[in-house]
Amino acid sequence: MPTETITVTPTPTWVPLKIEGLVPAPYRTPKFNLRVVPLHPTFACELQGVDWSKDVSPELYQEIREIVDKYGVVVCRKTGLTDEAHIKFSANFGDLDDVKPYQKAGRTHRLAYPELFDAGNIDPNTGDVAPLTAAQVIGNKANELFHVDSSFNGRRAGHSLLLAHVLPPPGTGGSTEYADSRTAYDELPDATKKQIEGLVANHSLFHSRKTVMPEYFKDTDPSKLPLSKHKLSQTHEWSGRKNLYIASYVHSIEGLDDAASKALIAELLAHVQQPRYRVTIDWHQPGDMIMWDNTSVMHRATGGSYEGQHRRDMRRTTVKDMSRDKYGLNGDGADWRVGLP
Ligand code: OGA
Ligand code: MN
Repeated sequence: MPTETITVTPTPTWVPLKIEGLVPAPYRTPKFNLRVVPLHPTFACELQGVDWSKDVSPELYQEIREIVDKYGVVVCRKTGLTDEAHIKFSANFGDLDDVKPYQKAGRTHRLAYPELFDAGNIDPNTGDVAPLTAAQVIGNKANELFHVDSSFNGRRAGHSLLLAHVLPPPGTGGSTEYADSRTAYDELPDATKKQIEGLVANHSLFHSRKTVMPEYFKDTDPSKLPLSKHKLSQTHEWSGRKNLYIASYVHSIEGLDDAASKALIAELLAHVQQPRYRVTIDWHQPGDMIMWDNTSVMHRATGGSYEGQHRRDMRRTTVKDMSRDKYGLNGDGADWRVGLP
């Protein structure tokens, strides 16, 4: 377990968002008259008009799902969802993942259900803000790098649904930021598209942890641990659009020497992290939920002055990918999972 001596490499200071181009006008959906309010010129929207106090019917799920497929990030305010209803709604998307690999690695689970991933900063033993030296909080630090959830497992994540339970005071940070990796793919130079076609990236949870905690993980060599293999250039099954599938978990690229691999990863990450592909979403009140598709967008936590000071209780369900690319090149049925305390 990390101790007081752990040093965390500060995450880069990201340039503020400057949206270029027009955000499309809000519109109503055909069947349930839901209101869709786009939040960025190319992706992300707020969805209004769902009655979360009732079970979501298959027809309503279908209409919501079409919006998720198109926008990649969908914000729903004041859902009032309980843990149980959160899990139940999430199951519409497919097979739910759970935190058992993290428990096996020694983490104490604070929440009532293994299907709820703890993205908050609360000490499971005291219920108070976890000290900044706690393993869980340091792990959250790695979430401040742009990533996609669970790309390091044999079967990657499809959708994530993050629900706010307790938020830090306004103005102290804790927003979540997203990047549109489909549009970023579309706007890659033709030569780069050609270069990455067919290339396979190796994803490792340890690589991202090592990036933020180089000292603590100095003896950990991610290449000696399980690597999950996914093509960089993919077709997103649910929209038919191409996607640049990359994350802070990408440790190396198959077939390239170390220098070439590092250079290409850095180039692609710099491209997708340009301000024009990004949108920051503020959490307004408990009950707010953001659902996103890890196979069409990237995301990161943004931190803030609340860290170590105020509680932020965020619970996430994670749906295992249901698409044809769920196992990447890990082999059909690869269901191994990786955990860290
Ligand atoms: C996550 C995550 C970001 C945040 O739950 O997968 O990256 O802002 N969360 O809590
Ligand atoms: Mn995440």
